[in-house]
Amino acid sequence: MSSNILFASSNKNKFDEASKILSNFKINLEFFKSDLIEIQDDSISDIASQKVKDAFNKSQKPIIVEDDGLFIDSLNGFPGPYSSFIFKTIGNNGILELVSSNRTAKFVSVIAYSDGKNIEIFESSIKGKISDKPRGDGWGYDPIFIPENQNQTYAELTNKNQISHRYESLSKFASWFLNRQE
Ligand code: IMP
Repeated sequence: MSSNILFASSNKNKFDEASKILSNFKINLEFFKSDLIEIQDDSISDIASQKVKDAFNKSQKPIIVEDDGLFIDSLNGFPGPYSSFIFKTIGNNGILELVSSNRTAKFVSVIAYSDGKNIEIFESSIKGKISDKPRGDGWGYDPIFIPENQNQTYAELTNKNQISHRYESLSKFASWFLNRQE
């Protein structure tokens, strides 16, 4: 038996990846295209939690949202919770100008689920580093993020969806969700 859940986002790339990942767990995602209220906060999980409340209010159906952040060690975790704004303003080239010799970073994904009664949060991160120049044809920070133990950026890798920060957080969500249904 497969389960249907809504995925609220304005980002179709994110939805497409999430949908592929969750199909491995027989969870069927439907795209709920929406510009959700996004608070500014230092905590990605608090942002995701607020977003999922707004998403449930709009959809009135069980729904998940995802919030991500790229944390660069030499910049004390910047852009972190501000990753979306920074991508829109200075973009990958701006990030590359800021990063110096220590290029280590992590990509964090938080999944928030609401059924209107409770909110559940699932968080994961993947370590990696910032490339010296954009490589590959990908969305967002994909061309400049090289996950740990790889030589290629997310944009160059063919198996991003099997190793990404998103894969890890959605796997945690799926195992909780499927066990809860039984
Ligand atoms: P958001 O606020 O959760 O949408 O994401 C923060 C920023 O990270 C946005 O600019 C996204 O495009 C970017 N982002 C999120 N996930 C990924 C990814 O898997 N690859 C590349 N960029 C991403």
